[in-house]
Amino acid sequence: MSALRICLCLNPVLLNRFLTQTNLLSSSCALSSSLKWTSKSLCCSSKSIVHSNGDTSTSLSRNCPLSGLEDELVGYRLGKKKATEVAHLVWRHVLHKGDIVIDATCGNGYDTLAMLKMVADESGSGRVYGMDIQIDALKNTSSLLDATVTQKEKELVKLFPICHSRMDEVVPENTAVRLVAFNLGYLPGGDKGIITTSKTTLLALEAAKKMLISGGLISLVVYVGHPGGRIGYC
Ligand SMILES: *[C@@H]1O[C@H](CO)[C@@H](O)[C@H](O)[C@H]1NC(C)=O
Repeated sequence: MSALRICLCLNPVLLNRFLTQTNLLSSSCALSSSLKWTSKSLCCSSKSIVHSNGDTSTSLSRNCPLSGLEDELVGYRLGKKKATEVAHLVWRHVLHKGDIVIDATCGNGYDTLAMLKMVADESGSGRVYGMDIQIDALKNTSSLLDATVTQKEKELVKLFPICHSRMDEVVPENTAVRLVAFNLGYLPGGDKGIITTSKTTLLALEAAKKMLISGGLISLVVYVGHPGGRIGYC
């Protein structure tokens, strides 16, 4: 994990004004540019919050849903906050109780758990659709939930052992999804041969884009430190 990026893409349909990213390596989001997205499909470079020259004074526009998080983003840049912590802060900023969210890469389940805590409410309308190609990852996610949430909360989580490029097969049609989160790269402690690829990631991002409601968020935390880069299979 020598370097990582956080890239947050807002549904451009109505919120076409903003995307933010914190990036240790360059001022553009390598993942999206490598996927050759136009700014019309998923915007991905409207504004750098923290410049690579160390200038951390940039502020976010007031109508940006992430405004108020500048300090956290700077904290990340300065190494005081982990990428996942910043991602969780951003999600909390965007999510409401009762929302429907997708954890496209369950891993060991910490993101799934964080999302569940953010959307679970009394009414039981919140949902977390979680998926991972590795059965072990889902087992671990399930055990983590058993150990940390009530049975009623756990029932709000639906786990699927599939590639996230097939998320539209498991999430019911016309589901209003507010967040789709990706944590790309190898699973810590998992099989380093199983890493996410740009091909399946692209398919998954396209699927995610279709499901997002206006004002929804696609969150990408991309670990670029493993030897395979972003090449491998889902
Ligand atoms: C699941 O959890 C076990 C025990 O903590 C760990 O050894 C294993 O690497 C995890 N597997 C995956 C795929 O996360």
